[in-house]
Amino acid sequence: MTFDRILTHRQEFPFLDQYAYFNYGGQGLMSRRALEAVTQAQETLQRIAPFSQAAYDYSLQLTDDLRRAIAGELGASPDSITLTEDTTVGCNIALWGLDWQAGDHLLITDCEHQGVLAIVQELQHRFGIEVSVCPLLPTLNGGDPVATLVSHLRPNTRMVVLSHVLWNTGQVLPLEQMVAVCHSHSDRVRILVDAAQSVGVLPLNLTTLGADYYAFTCHKWWCGSAGVGGIYVRPEVREELRPTFIGWRSIRTNAQGKPIAWEGGGKRYEVATSAVALYPGVTTAIHVQQKFASAVERYEMICDRSRYLWQQLQTIPQVKTLRSTPPESGLVSFQMTSGQHKALVTALEAEGILVRLLLDPNCVRACTHYLTVEAEIDRLVGAIAAIIDR
Ligand SMILES: Cc1ncc(COP(=O)(O)O)c(C=O)c1O
Repeated sequence: MTFDRILTHRQEFPFLDQYAYFNYGGQGLMSRRALEAVTQAQETLQRIAPFSQAAYDYSLQLTDDLRRAIAGELGASPDSITLTEDTTVGCNIALWGLDWQAGDHLLITDCEHQGVLAIVQELQHRFGIEVSVCPLLPTLNGGDPVATLVSHLRPNTRMVVLSHVLWNTGQVLPLEQMVAVCHSHSDRVRILVDAAQSVGVLPLNLTTLGADYYAFTCHKWWCGSAGVGGIYVRPEVREELRPTFIGWRSIRTNAQGKPIAWEGGGKRYEVATSAVALYPGVTTAIHVQQKFASAVERYEMICDRSRYLWQQLQTIPQVKTLRSTPPESGLVSFQMTSGQHKALVTALEAEGILVRLLLDPNCVRACTHYLTVEAEIDRLVGAIAAIIDR
């Protein structure tokens, strides 16, 4: 990949050079084409009359295009994809959809997002399920996440909740092996994967990966519209996962328009009116990335950039990266010996450098995308060193 090619590609992102952006794990930057696709869809809907047969057909087309684009990137059939607003809605679909019985056990890792944790706490409250925590944080620089998982499974474990890429440390979990040990533990165990930080980063084939539910968003690493996400539900476990929020998009109707059955595939978890004009912002974003490079190449570029950032951070004595070896994702988390993480994030933002604060572990997270160039990383590291010296 020539440097010129990356620079040319970066020109497709109108705001990329306005600041030094390291918050892709929060939200990506949209390309000009993706932004235009959203505007164009909004205008088209108005022009053809937003509530009309033509608009209905157009919306269906936008929905189908998106479902196919997502499925292609995830190595799954379009039928297995449910469109949602974000990762957390997908997690809700999986967590509320199971037929929980009092005494069932749910195992969740110690590195999950607070939104998902809150759902699990409410499930515990409503259904009297057992919840325990699988300590994966200590495996960041050694140890075996698979063995840790196995030692925390119980005979009554019904669901394991984990992230493919841990949002706080950037650790990539050996998901295929983790799925395999859960499924061989008991055929009742289901695995919910929070894929907020893996979709758009890792090359994926969900069909061979075997996870039961894989919930993701399109607005982070894919650089698509905020407000569009999804969940993959493994077709073999779809029938047992009942829809919780239900509406006209979830069902098939008879000649009188009355509900007679669930929609056939992942559509059964979709509810009603959505912001379909946002969809081409994701479909286009995916196509822009695919046209630039393959998923494997993009992942290699992400890791190349995060390795460079990680290496540069080692040159500042007052900074300690959480990982003792180069990252395997685009997330680079570090701590300052001063502990002044919030002050650092604020000071960097004042200089147009965007990183984020994390609370557990208390640290600063900087994300490198395949779009990131070394000059931006140098600017970040230089600014950190200068702020420390002030
Ligand atoms: C691991 C993880 N899960 C869930 C979320 C929430 O994502 P969303 O807003 O798409 O639901 C995030 C966002 O930062 C995340 O990093």
